[in-house]
Amino acid sequence: MSVSSLKGGVGKTTVALGLASAAFARGFRTLVVDLDPQCDASTGLGAFGEFRETVADVLQNPKHNVVHRSIVSSTWGKVKSGHIDVMIGSPRSLQFDTPNPTIRDVWKLEEALSRVEKEYDLVIIDTPPSINGLTRTAWVASDRVLIVSEPSIFSVVAADRAMRAIEELRRGLTPRLEALGVVINRMRPQSKEHEYRAQELQELFRENLMTVKIEERATLQQAQGAARPIHTWPGDHARELANIFDEILEAALASFALPNEKRRNKTDKKMARISKIMRGQNLDAVLELESLKPMEFADAEPIISELPTEPSRPVDPKFLTPIEQLEALAFIELEKNSDQDKDKA
Ligand SMILES: Nc1ncnc2c1ncn2[C@@H]1O[C@H](COP(=O)(O)OP(=O)(O)OP(=O)(O)O)[C@@H](O)[C@H]1O
Ligand SMILES: [Mg+2]
Repeated sequence: MSVSSLKGGVGKTTVALGLASAAFARGFRTLVVDLDPQCDASTGLGAFGEFRETVADVLQNPKHNVVHRSIVSSTWGKVKSGHIDVMIGSPRSLQFDTPNPTIRDVWKLEEALSRVEKEYDLVIIDTPPSINGLTRTAWVASDRVLIVSEPSIFSVVAADRAMRAIEELRRGLTPRLEALGVVINRMRPQSKEHEYRAQELQELFRENLMTVKIEERATLQQAQGAARPIHTWPGDHARELANIFDEILEAALASFALPNEKRRNKTDKKMARISKIMRGQNLDAVLELESLKPMEFADAEPIISELPTEPSRPVDPKFLTPIEQLEALAFIELEKNSDQDKDKA
């Protein structure tokens, strides 16, 4: 599960750590993948210092040994017995946060996690605040994305963009990906502005907005500062927060238990099949094995193949190689989305 938001500082890492704490308290074997070059999740899990291998090496080369060496035990395990690990973040992962990643790039973490997924009950991925390569890499390796939003106007817009970006990627490349929903963080119940924005989020996201809201509490910062799980922090506020993270985890588990939504059209079905055979595989091996033909996607809808930085141009899938077709299908129509944002504003 990825924890994301296309806006910075809204509480992605806080929520990722809260969920990790809930999973740890429940006795789950948990892995937190720190995909943000700022490495805040690693710090919050007590993993700081020099590490020989990190997530940046994994993204370079998702080999078995590299993956295993990039994962260390969290110091949370010293406070309470249990199994919680972190795939160490690195500022060097910034080099993978390009606006135009190839399908090969965004598939790396999926391949890496397939090597260790049997060792864990839950994998939580903390992502950077953008829709570039790293966030897409996280989403391609995920079944669910939890969107974090503050009750403020810019966060509302960012949450909406994120939901649409997930839907695009789901339709284009990875049908098992679904938005778990939007959770409001840093809510101050006595604030009129926050109430108004929370109402706005409710109208925009309806059943996709989580009923639980995370309040602004200094306790969260204290627990983070001490690199301790909120479930072991003393006081009533910590207990309330722990209960909220338990509820969010419950919602995630309930959603994992449901079968994926029925696929809507032919392209979706094809992508579902391709995605299934590619799951956890090395991309080259799969393409070779399946000997995908250029006509495979011949009846796919022409789609926009560039991001907003370049002029958009529809591509006819008939003239692309299989790998190019997958790449084209994987592109998110950010341009279209940002136009809709402007209309909304
Ligand atoms: N509910 C909360 N109550 C109090 N402080 C909070 C809460 N949520 C987040 N914070 C604080 O706000 C700051 C930003 O939160 P956090 O680092 O989780 O955001 P982020 O979305 O991961 O940021 P970035 O985009 O930089 O990765 C941190 O100092 C964190 O402790
Ligand atoms: Mg963060």
